[in-house]
Amino acid sequence: MRIFSGIQPTGRKHLGNYIGAIRQYVAGQDRGDAIYCIVDLHAVSVAYEPADLRRYLYDTTAILLSAGLDPNRSILFRQSDVQEHTELCWLLCAVTAHGELNRMTQFKDKSAKQKDLVSAALFFYPVLQAADILAYKTNEVPVGDDQRQHIELTRNIAERFNERFGDTLVVPRHNIPEVGARIMDLAAPDQKMSTSASTDQGTVYVLDEPKAVLKKIKSAVTDSGTEIRHAPDKPGIANLLEIMAAIQNKKIAEVEQAFAGARYGDLKVAVAEAVVAYLAPVRERYLELRPDEARLEEILSAGAERARRIASATVAEVKDRMGVGPKPARS
Ligand code: TRP
Repeated sequence: MRIFSGIQPTGRKHLGNYIGAIRQYVAGQDRGDAIYCIVDLHAVSVAYEPADLRRYLYDTTAILLSAGLDPNRSILFRQSDVQEHTELCWLLCAVTAHGELNRMTQFKDKSAKQKDLVSAALFFYPVLQAADILAYKTNEVPVGDDQRQHIELTRNIAERFNERFGDTLVVPRHNIPEVGARIMDLAAPDQKMSTSASTDQGTVYVLDEPKAVLKKIKSAVTDSGTEIRHAPDKPGIANLLEIMAAIQNKKIAEVEQAFAGARYGDLKVAVAEAVVAYLAPVRERYLELRPDEARLEEILSAGAERARRIASATVAEVKDRMGVGPKPARS
């Protein structure tokens, strides 16, 4: 089974990214043939600073390695190193409806936030994402809940291509974890923990010092009741239960039971300590790995070479089916 996912090169990954996606990537190494891509070309679709992009790319590479991605057991590479992604993106534009892209909620949300320019790159973002996935004949895409619509679009594009040009592309499915796909902001539990939108005191970053993690979780917003229950009218408590269940690999009901009769304060302390124990080793490895950029480059370029071999075969097949370029010599 082929597993593929892409991750944005934002410098600061938070607990929501970690639980919702990054740890799924690590687990994927044991479940199949896993390929992970840091999507620097997606990052240029909104306002950004070139020097930051390079720095964030290394930050993200080091975080993934620290989390347990092993370049010997998976492929880790930088999107822009494999030009097949952009080529395939254009080819897939031919089977993508303009109206579909117009309906993407992320496009609407992100374009509303742009101050100077809503770029065409932002509009085509989901097609590049589809190219990322389809280039590898991916079966399964581990992602957070916010990527549901993009994966659905990818499936439509693959199906439309296959109908029009003959069976070529694999129609992938998403893998959104049951527990932990939507970690909420600790200070505003009605909104998702996110790099751009959420509050600083409500966002636990993977690289936060243990002291900061403890403080943020212990000051999590809860409701006025006393009962520890995962319920819609208790978003703060539900969020803490969700975090605990994800970290302990338990069902939410089991965690609820473990805290039956406990006070809110007990839950906060327990979650805070669990998160610190969970993230501290990642942070330590990161501090060791991040300074050696030459080594990070080596890992990325070795990954790109392996990725290119797979992607170029798919692109050649796609072009042949579409009648683009010379007829390939039969072997
Ligand atoms: N859009 C994804 C995000 O913001 C990142 C991404 C790009 C991706 N290409 C991908 C995710 C391919 C899964 C598969 O998180």
